[in-house]
Amino acid sequence: MTTSYALPTSSLNVRLINVPVRPARLRQKGIRTLVRETSLQAQDLICPLFVDENLRTPAPIRSLPGFCRHTVETAVREAADILELDIPAVIVFGMPRDKDETGSSALSGVVQDTICAIKTSVPELTIIADTCLCEYTSHGHCGIIDEAGVIRTEPTLDMLQRIATSYARAGVDIVAPSGMIDGMVGAIRSKLDEERFDAVSLMPYAVKYCSSFYDPFRDAVDSKCTFGDRSAYQMDPANSNEAVREVRLDLEEGADIIMIKPALPYLDIIYRVKQTFDVPIAAYSVSGEYAMLRAAIDKGQLTDEAIFETLLSIKRAGADMIISYFAKEAARGLASR
Ligand code: PBG
Repeated sequence: MTTSYALPTSSLNVRLINVPVRPARLRQKGIRTLVRETSLQAQDLICPLFVDENLRTPAPIRSLPGFCRHTVETAVREAADILELDIPAVIVFGMPRDKDETGSSALSGVVQDTICAIKTSVPELTIIADTCLCEYTSHGHCGIIDEAGVIRTEPTLDMLQRIATSYARAGVDIVAPSGMIDGMVGAIRSKLDEERFDAVSLMPYAVKYCSSFYDPFRDAVDSKCTFGDRSAYQMDPANSNEAVREVRLDLEEGADIIMIKPALPYLDIIYRVKQTFDVPIAAYSVSGEYAMLRAAIDKGQLTDEAIFETLLSIKRAGADMIISYFAKEAARGLASR
């Protein structure tokens, strides 16, 4: 193929020359890496970490092959392994002994103990705490509900403020409210500042779709709703403008990092938010995304190259960091490349 290039000349006229176009020149070994536009490193990744108050030894999670629910003690060891792989952060999820209508067991327990223990033994690791009620409520919803099953915003925000403060006291670096409760970011920010935890960052799940890709996670932490679903507070997968509005609101309320979730079926949203706002974006490549690839790789239908290609696609779309169940595997693979 040939293309006409327009070259400027000394006059206002242009001179047209015909040269063969050879984009493949830049794909040769050596040059290929020089012109690479997106990079993927262990430092971009965040690893999920599950802790369960009911256990005395770690228990494998059936719906997430390769993952365990940890005790506080084994979570600390896992945290050290994660940092050893150059992964800078974990996001902690807890399973309490007791659940009730208001999720009161979220106020003190295994997550606070884990944060404290990791901060003591592995201080360089950044700890993010998923901050929500669904693992702690008997009904599985992400907030306190009324008789009709509708989330009551004010008491839920009050609860989230208290949980976030307890995580901050335990030494958390980043609070990640995940319930899509209106006003949650502002409420938590003002409470943390009032309690002098102004150094603690906020990474809200600003754009969280009502997705079928969370099922393996809900199995893992036993957070299925006993009635109804989360469509009254999580976003409609059909909406994109609404994502921009959600991000704007969370930034106005004091968000430091914006989280978008899931990742793969919503790469357009990651791209759009990155183009619209100049703020750090975290993409959560969720449990269902892991399950799909894991199954295909374990069956030999795909190789683990698919992991790197997928993570790269999320970064290319605009994510600065990725929460991924492949974090450790990817970090190991990247180190040996
Ligand atoms: C809510 C929360 C969920 C996930 C992370 N935080 C589940 C939900 O909305 O039901 C899902 C993560 C995943 O699927 O990997 N606390």
